[in-house]
Amino acid sequence: MAKSKTGFSCSGCGAIFGQWQGQCPECGEWNTVFETLIDKPNSTRSEKFLGYSGQTLAQIQSMADIHLDETARISSTFSEMDRVLGGGVVPGSVVLLGGDPGIGKSTLLLQVLCQLPQGIGTLYVTGEESLSQVTLRARRLGLPEGNIRLLAETDIERITHISHLEKPRIMVIDSIQTMFLQDISSAPGSVSQVRETAAHLARFAKQTDTMIFLVGHVTKEGGVAGPRILEHIMDAVIFIEGRTDSRFRVMRALKNRFGAVNELGVFAMTESGMKEVKNPSAIFLSRFDNPAPGSVVMVVWEGSRPLLVEIQALMDQAYGGAPKRVAVGMELNRLAMLLAVLHRHGGIPVYDQDVFINIVGGVSVRETSADLALLLALTSSLHSQALPKGLVVFGEVGLSGEIRPVAGGLERLREAIKHGFTHAIIPKANAPKSRIDGLEVIAVQFLSEALTAIRNF
Ligand code: TYD
Ligand code: MG
Repeated sequence: MAKSKTGFSCSGCGAIFGQWQGQCPECGEWNTVFETLIDKPNSTRSEKFLGYSGQTLAQIQSMADIHLDETARISSTFSEMDRVLGGGVVPGSVVLLGGDPGIGKSTLLLQVLCQLPQGIGTLYVTGEESLSQVTLRARRLGLPEGNIRLLAETDIERITHISHLEKPRIMVIDSIQTMFLQDISSAPGSVSQVRETAAHLARFAKQTDTMIFLVGHVTKEGGVAGPRILEHIMDAVIFIEGRTDSRFRVMRALKNRFGAVNELGVFAMTESGMKEVKNPSAIFLSRFDNPAPGSVVMVVWEGSRPLLVEIQALMDQAYGGAPKRVAVGMELNRLAMLLAVLHRHGGIPVYDQDVFINIVGGVSVRETSADLALLLALTSSLHSQALPKGLVVFGEVGLSGEIRPVAGGLERLREAIKHGFTHAIIPKANAPKSRIDGLEVIAVQFLSEALTAIRNF
């Protein structure tokens, strides 16, 4: 193949240069100029437009005439993963699976390819481990081996050439940081290589309808080989997160052209590989049988489903200086606002109290439905009065102390009932029209009513 021309372009403004620059002279940004492939001269393009090159010309079509095959999605064999993907893997899509090294990306994708039904062609391209290492892992996990094809290769043009002949339906590239294009002089893992190899694979996926998973390790800065360079090339960007001290892994879509983002899938890393956690609510609740002051269970909305999450608050007498405000798993500004509401509309002053908030299980709550639970947890801590074990709370709190409704009220209540909760303090506008067996609903319109309700427990 003829060597393509390379040059340097700015990832910020797109300007092209003959040589590398530390600062882009066009837009003034630093560290944005990387080596890149430059298009061939325009003459071949006009040939293409005129149809001389033997390619079929693209035609304008009416949208109504375009036929879609909704059943074409393939299940990844994990329902948790399918949900994050928006209902399975879409043909011709490129999905980036990112995460810290050792989080379980290779293990999960190996399981997926092995477990796919016979007849769906697979190809697992490994650039990090040898074929025997991959096989050893599959054997140890007891995975079926009949359907998986392996290739140890890092030259991306050879990979696409081989898969053009092999024609897998679904392909895994592990990892994008080990892959390279010969035309680019920088080392594998550099921004230029990662971006160009990913773009090459994306084109291959679209042209051949192959589904491609790219494994990408997250750098210390939190991006996959440099900030956001891959996001626009990918159809979906999925991250696996988890704390090193916990065996639970949370899978989240940061971008998805074929489904909702912020969808959440929960897995556990076990001795037999990644197992899905079908009932994730249970893991975000702390396991104390006796309720503790300052602890409240709330129902938050994650992606397309409700999730029970415990919030803990601690108020402590502040001595000198400005009182501390610390929030883990929620926004500090929201906490400050709610503390003001608690003072003005709940009559509870907190200017002399240090306030600490923690969301159990390492989840981050960005939803306003946590407001009411937070204020009740704070009050419970301040008065050292534990709330009943079977209580769940949700609702947004407005600046005038009014309790505002949140989306999905009924689904949230159902999730609570499923986990044996018997009492719920919720916004009046979310109250169910008819009685629900086994659940006492306390519907409130103002913060003061909620505070009265917990005093009377
Ligand atoms: P791996 O999939 O290699 O991570 P990544 O590809 O994201 O870098 O996972 C490696 C970690 O998972 C390693 O620390 C060991 C652990 N692990 C298990 O706990 N159980 C298992 O069955 C396997 C295969 C790995
Ligand atoms: Mg790996």
